[in-house]
Amino acid sequence: MKIFLDTAEIDEIRVAARWGVLDGVTTNPTLYAKVGGASYDDVLREICDLVPGAISAEVVADDVDGMLEEGRHFAKLASNIYVKVAMSENGLEAISRFKAEGIRTNCTLIFSSNQGLLAAKAGASFLSPFVGRLDDINEDGMTVIRELAEIKAIHELEAEVLAASVRHPLHVTQAALAGADIVTMPFKVLQQMVHHPLTDKGIAQFKKDWEAAKAALAG
Ligand code: G3P
Repeated sequence: MKIFLDTAEIDEIRVAARWGVLDGVTTNPTLYAKVGGASYDDVLREICDLVPGAISAEVVADDVDGMLEEGRHFAKLASNIYVKVAMSENGLEAISRFKAEGIRTNCTLIFSSNQGLLAAKAGASFLSPFVGRLDDINEDGMTVIRELAEIKAIHELEAEVLAASVRHPLHVTQAALAGADIVTMPFKVLQQMVHHPLTDKGIAQFKKDWEAAKAALAG
């Protein structure tokens, strides 16, 4: 399973890339707005230079021509750009036109397996169900991941299931078990995955015992 960071923060991306666990990055207008400072294009270029894997850049237009214009522009920024298009009637048309042009897409704001199935048929490379936002409204977000992973296996779909709107490490484990191909997560969740209180306690104890042994030897 691939691990993506869901962020536009360059420093976070740099750290995760150094850990050797980062396969890609997803961004969206909200995540870009949190960073500011540079243009979205510049932020995307910097991320693409840092991470060789798939980098998602989201279009904001809601008409097909506007989506195509923004997406073609993003696709020219770097060869690893995936154009993120929200699920909608126009979004499906744009995804299918991008596919014909050889531009890869990530269909976002998916909340049902039927939406995911349509996005896959239109030619999206990634299907992004938002698990946390479904949990927020008392639905089981992980069901969509499980269903889409099954549908993908039964019908041999090419699209990859990307679990998005991940809020905590348990979501990551559940998405991995449900058959997600990719999980995108905030940097905080990635950090939480690294740590365990017994690991941190064990490291402190080893250090303390080592120092005590050295002190005893020094006499
Ligand atoms: O990957 C989608 C993500 O950015 C949305 O997350 O927490 O706003 O639902 P959230």
